[in-house]
This record gives sequence, C-alpha cells and structure tokens, in this order.
Amino acid sequence: MTKQIEQLDADRLIDPSRRKLLLGSAGAVGLAGFLGGGIWSVSAEALAEDLPPNRLLGFQGIAASTADEVTIAPGYRAEVLISWGEPLVDGAPAFDPQGNNSAADQEKQFGDNNDGMSFFPIDDNHGVMAINNEYVNEQYLFAHGGAKATSLEEVRKSQAAHGISIVAVKRIGDGQRWEVERPSRYNRRITANSEMQFSGPAAGHPLLQTAADPSGRKVLGTFGNCANGKTPWGTYLTCEENFDTYFGTRQADYRTTPEQKRYTLKASEPERNWPDYDERFDVAKNPNEFNRHGWIVEIDPLDPASTPIKHTALGRFKHENAAVTVAKDGRLVVYMGDDERGEHIYKYVSKGVVDAANPANNRTLLDEGTLYVAQFDGDEAGTPLKGKGRWIALEFGKNGLTPENGFRDEAEVLIFARKAAQQVGATKMDRPEWIAVNPHDGRAYCTLTNNSKRGEEGMPLNAANPRPNNIYGQIIRWDEGGDATADVFAWDIYALCGNPIAHPEGVNRGTPNITAENTFNSPDGLGFDRAGRLWILTDGKYSNKGDYVGQGNNQMLVGDPVSGEIRRFMVGPKSCELTGITFTPDYKTMFVNVQHPGEEGDSHFPNNSPRPRSSVLMITREDGGVIGA
Ligand code: FEO
Ligand code: CA
Ligand code: CA
Repeated sequence: MTKQIEQLDADRLIDPSRRKLLLGSAGAVGLAGFLGGGIWSVSAEALAEDLPPNRLLGFQGIAASTADEVTIAPGYRAEVLISWGEPLVDGAPAFDPQGNNSAADQEKQFGDNNDGMSFFPIDDNHGVMAINNEYVNEQYLFAHGGAKATSLEEVRKSQAAHGISIVAVKRIGDGQRWEVERPSRYNRRITANSEMQFSGPAAGHPLLQTAADPSGRKVLGTFGNCANGKTPWGTYLTCEENFDTYFGTRQADYRTTPEQKRYTLKASEPERNWPDYDERFDVAKNPNEFNRHGWIVEIDPLDPASTPIKHTALGRFKHENAAVTVAKDGRLVVYMGDDERGEHIYKYVSKGVVDAANPANNRTLLDEGTLYVAQFDGDEAGTPLKGKGRWIALEFGKNGLTPENGFRDEAEVLIFARKAAQQVGATKMDRPEWIAVNPHDGRAYCTLTNNSKRGEEGMPLNAANPRPNNIYGQIIRWDEGGDATADVFAWDIYALCGNPIAHPEGVNRGTPNITAENTFNSPDGLGFDRAGRLWILTDGKYSNKGDYVGQGNNQMLVGDPVSGEIRRFMVGPKSCELTGITFTPDYKTMFVNVQHPGEEGDSHFPNNSPRPRSSVLMITREDGGVIGA
C-alpha cells in the first residue's frame, strides 16, 4: 500500500489483452474537444470493427414501454413474490388496501418501498431473503391519503414500514419458482425502532451519546435503507441513505450546525414530519441522534434473535450499497458510494483476512480497517473518458485530518466522513449509486446516476464527471490490477448514458454502446451475475418526452462488460423505479424490486390494486434456463 500516484502507469495496471477492450467500449470514438465542450463526433464504424462479439447476452432485447405493467424479454416471466403490507410474521393481519392497517399491524407485515436485497440459501429448496424497505409513500400508507403523518400512531406506522423484512422462501415443486414460507421462524421485521448496537472506532463516542443512551453504543432503528451487500460469512449489510429527511425541529430559532448542513439537514422543513410527534427526531432536543444514522448495518438473517450492528469503521454518509469482495491476500474490501451531488466513492480495507473455515474469526473485519476515498484524475494526454486515480486514507493525523482542520480523533473522521473526504481532496462525483465487482476480473463498476448541477459554481467538470448538466448519468469502472487493496487504479467510462433519439449528436448522445434501442437515463441499481453479465437498473425520468423521448418507464438492462453491448431486458410499471437484484445460487431465478409504482398517482400495480404497492418480482425462464444466458 505504499505506491504513490506519481508511480502509476495506467497501461501497466491494465492487462494488455484487455486494453483494447477498455478502449473498445468507450475510447474508440472521436472525442476530441469533448472536455472542452466542443463538438463530440462519434465514429461508430471504427468502434464496431473493434468490438469482440458479445458472448453473454442470450435474450432478445425489448422495446421501451409506458404501460402500467411489467414487460419482459420473450421466454421469460415475471411474477409477484410479495408486496408491501402482506402478512409476514405470525399473527399479522391481512393488508388493507384503503390504508387502515395500524402501526402494530405494519410491524408484522412486509415493509414498504423494497430496495436492495440478498438471497441466502439454506438448502436446495429453502432460502431466506433480506429485503430493505427504504421509505414510504405517505399518500398510500395513510388512510387519509395526505403527505404527512397526523398523529404519533401514524408516525409509528411509517416507522414500522421502514427497515428490513426477513422473508423465508421455499421452492414450488421442482421448478424454478419460489413462494414465501409462512409460518417460518426466520420471518422477521427490523424497523426504525428496533434495538441495535454500534461497533468500531466511533462506538461510545460523545457525539453518539444521547439522553436515552449515555453509552453511545445502543441505538434504535434503521431507515432510509437503500441498497445492500453480503459478507463472505453469510450476513447481510443494509445501507442507510437519506436519513437526514427524518430529522427536524419546530424550534424557530434553531441554528443548523455546519456538520448537520454537510448532511443536508433541512431542520425547519423535513421531508417527513416524524419530529412533530417523536422527540427522538427533534434535532433541537436530541442533536446527537442525527449522528447515529447514516451507517452500514450488519444483520444475521439466519439468526432471528441476533441484534443488528452499525459498523462505524465504514464511515457515515448517505450510503447507497456495499460491494464486498475478498482481495487476493484475503483481506475484505468494501466499495461504497455516497449518493448526493458532488459526493464521493469510498473503499474500506480490513486489517485482518477472511477466515472461511472459522466464521467467528471474521467478527472484527468490519471494525478494524482503513477507510479510503477516491480521487479520479485524467491521464497526462487528457484522453476523454479515461484516466487514473488513487485511494486516499481517511486516518486521523494523516492527510490533514488533524485538530487544526477540525478533527479531534478517528471517530470524528468517520462520523463526519464527508468533511474528511473533502479535506483530503476526494473527487466530487455525479451522485454515486450502486457499485458492483465483476467476478471475472475484479474490476468495480459504479453508477453515477445524474447531476443537473454539474458545471455550475462549486461543481466544476472533471475528467470522470465531464458533462455539464448531466441529466443521463454514466457508469464508471476502475481496475486495480487484480489487487483490490491497491491504492492506485486506472478508470474508464463503461457507458456515458444519453439519448440518440433526442440528441443524434453531441455529448447527450452518449457513448456508442447507447443506441435508440436501449436508451435509458439515471442508472442506479447494478449487479453482476456469475457469468459476468452486468445488470443495470434505472431510477430516472419516465416522462417519455423531450430529453427522455423513447426511454419509457424505468427499466432493467444487461451489459456485456467486454463488448460493451447493452440490451433492454425488462420495463417496470408506471412511475416506479426498478431496484434491488439477487439470484438463487443456480442463477435460474432472479428477484428484482418494483419500488414506488404510481408515485405520480398513475398506477394500479400489481393486479389492479386500488393503491399501488411496491413488490418483489420473481423472474424465471419458461425453459428453466439461466437468466440472461
Ligand atoms: Fe436509495 Fe441513491 O438511491
Ligand atoms: Ca438507488
Ligand atoms: Ca436513484
């Protein structure tokens, strides 16, 4: 870990056999003048000659759609596994489609707005799924249909619809379809009020202490659970993202601190009005409660009695997902994005190594290690859409993380990770969402979903985020030369998203692997399957007009990392986002989430439901084959 950026030779880091391919997907285009805002001319013919044939995508791509239904590639079927409000825990009442379920009901029912999730196999015919319930759509949660809670009972219902649902599933017959198993000892809800523990360097720190918890080690609840990760020892990681939207105060003279502002707290106008009825979320009364959220939480889905753990060593920010890999020397590496305009990409490297034979030895891996943040630079020649970068350690006492700059100890570096990242010169990215690691070459891919403020004051263009008013987003990838603990890397843009229908030329056309047939905006969810297919899920504009004409509803696509080809596999119902992706171990069943269908009041998904419901979809092939092959 001693190499310096000056010694970086991007070409050396990239296997020569792959170098052409790196260039193939994005570099073999005439991009002269791109960074300077000149005309961006694409030489598609040159690219086509360079492209190796796609070997991975075995399905027929589908057209965009604006229908209020799931559309999927021929030969595939998508069915609902479970929807918001379905009974989960023993004694749970039926879902009431008019919103009359109580808070106590919701605590036993499947949560709302399912997002990231992982499948944990038990045997060939049984498994357990851990599924995030990121937030709620108040207009559908509450019987009154309004946007705000009007009582403590309604706040409690909202809190109970957040968190995680642990759902046991069993195979139906001997095919590829599965169903929820009820009753099951594994079925469990973890909500915004469940007790959990802090661990790692910031546990017990004064900034995490409150009147209710003077120890600073016990915390209630998790919410804003966006995406996820899975450890090699079989636990689930859930990532706290937009936690700031739950805090506020009615105290008129309350002054938001710079540390709270850095996490975009809008104290007088919170998006959700929990503080009106629950003092824990009133920042004037309980200022440190705000610091107790924005972490990565570890849950053991196979032990219903286990207490979730918030791991402070992974830093506090608006966590999107946790892409876990094991480095060649056995250390655990976790890549993480902070989803906000101009925020950063992080990497955690454990001190110890993963011990597959003795899982008890893995307990400290998420508590003892080093958090790094990424700096992306162009190459010396200023080649568009590629460059080199380095990981900078966020260690107290180093790289300016000192008392003179406002950091008194390592805990403060972690609690205020955004400030620390800025101090060390991290690159401001276009909203880092999911990260996924290619199992075949170790390269990590990250969706940079969009950034309409790019190019404005305080948000200058840079090599990795080169497009002003970036409404379509891009997928960036980095190569650490086969060593996930490396402190330098080479990067390139796998796809600069765009719309060749609306913009036949120019920077909003996108890279040549974006076509009129696959055009999409705002890539968000991301995952690799075992064969190395890159699954891309979108959370973007679905107007199907103007800049977004021809893109339809949010969608799921599949990319070939080698050829660069991208094909549309599925389209969701109206005003939903597709997110969350996991597979059974044979990769013949895929689960994907339809989140917030009808957020614009225009959907009756699923099954003509009076109020639309977020749902987990189960995807199988009619011939029982591997998904996507
Ligand atoms: Fe929950 Fe950044 O998406
Ligand atoms: Ca997301
Ligand atoms: Ca998003």
